[in-house]
Amino acid sequence: MSYETLLTEKRGRVGLITLNRPKALNALNGVLIRELAEAIETFESDHDVGALVLTGGTRAFAAGADIKEMAQKRYIDCYLEDFITKGWERTAQCRKPILAAVAGYALGGGCEIAMMCDFIIAADNALFGQPEITVGTLPGAGGTQRLARAVGKALAMDLCLTGRQITAEEAMRAGLVSRVVPVSSLLEESVEAAEKIAERSLPIAMMIKECINRSFEVNLSEGIHFERRLFHASFATLDQKEGMDAFTRKRSPYWTHS
Ligand code: CAA
Repeated sequence: MSYETLLTEKRGRVGLITLNRPKALNALNGVLIRELAEAIETFESDHDVGALVLTGGTRAFAAGADIKEMAQKRYIDCYLEDFITKGWERTAQCRKPILAAVAGYALGGGCEIAMMCDFIIAADNALFGQPEITVGTLPGAGGTQRLARAVGKALAMDLCLTGRQITAEEAMRAGLVSRVVPVSSLLEESVEAAEKIAERSLPIAMMIKECINRSFEVNLSEGIHFERRLFHASFATLDQKEGMDAFTRKRSPYWTHS
């Protein structure tokens, strides 16, 4: 599959998607968003892919929605096309584990797409922010909601209202990213993390992801109930039998993703 704004490849059981509009700092235009949704779709339906990595370049993961493309949109255009919905939400709807490997700018829609992934590994040069207020609008791809859930009210308000950027280290302290690594090893470490996930049981990884995502939607007792049901369901998989048998017999498990 070849794309105008993306590069894709498979590394073992990992599907790697690289945003590739470097001259525009990977600004997220309509073509890129459509292609990103298609690439995720392709890897999701590929049985040989167990996890995805979404990355950009070393200067920018993505500097936001394409301002030049949207500048002249009228309210009625946004409303009728349901702007920032179709295609944009595909990343959040990915059922396989997907992680963001972020170097450079992750601003506006760039930060929002990264937050739609299951977790973010940041390069030490990464910068995160929601600067929409500086161009006369507000985060529109879930930024006010996901950022507040990730880092709490104070920092979310600070970033969205001042438009300032935070470094990878600050993002790490705030809980926005799970690891900070040197920019030179970002891709290697991210693919390695994804490989670790992808080599284990896919249905179990999907259930874990579903449970954690559920915790953001429901209260604690409902969330625990949901988790308990999927925990019970895991005993219907061959991989649960295999994993526990392998442990008991002191051998390596052979996952069949079933
Ligand atoms: N949209 C369109 N083009 C963009 C862009 C964006 N979001 N961000 C950068 N570019 C383009 C620039 O216009 C420039 O193109 P030209 O060479 O043709 O002029 C090129 O990328 C390089 O950018 P700069 O020259 O500005 O690079 P810099 O190093 O001086 O600054 C930057 C880098 C601080 C990231 C700056 O480009 C910037 O502020 N970008 C906009 C960030 C922003 O406001 N993002 C939010 C967008 S709104 C949004 O995302 C809504 C939503 O929630 C979905």
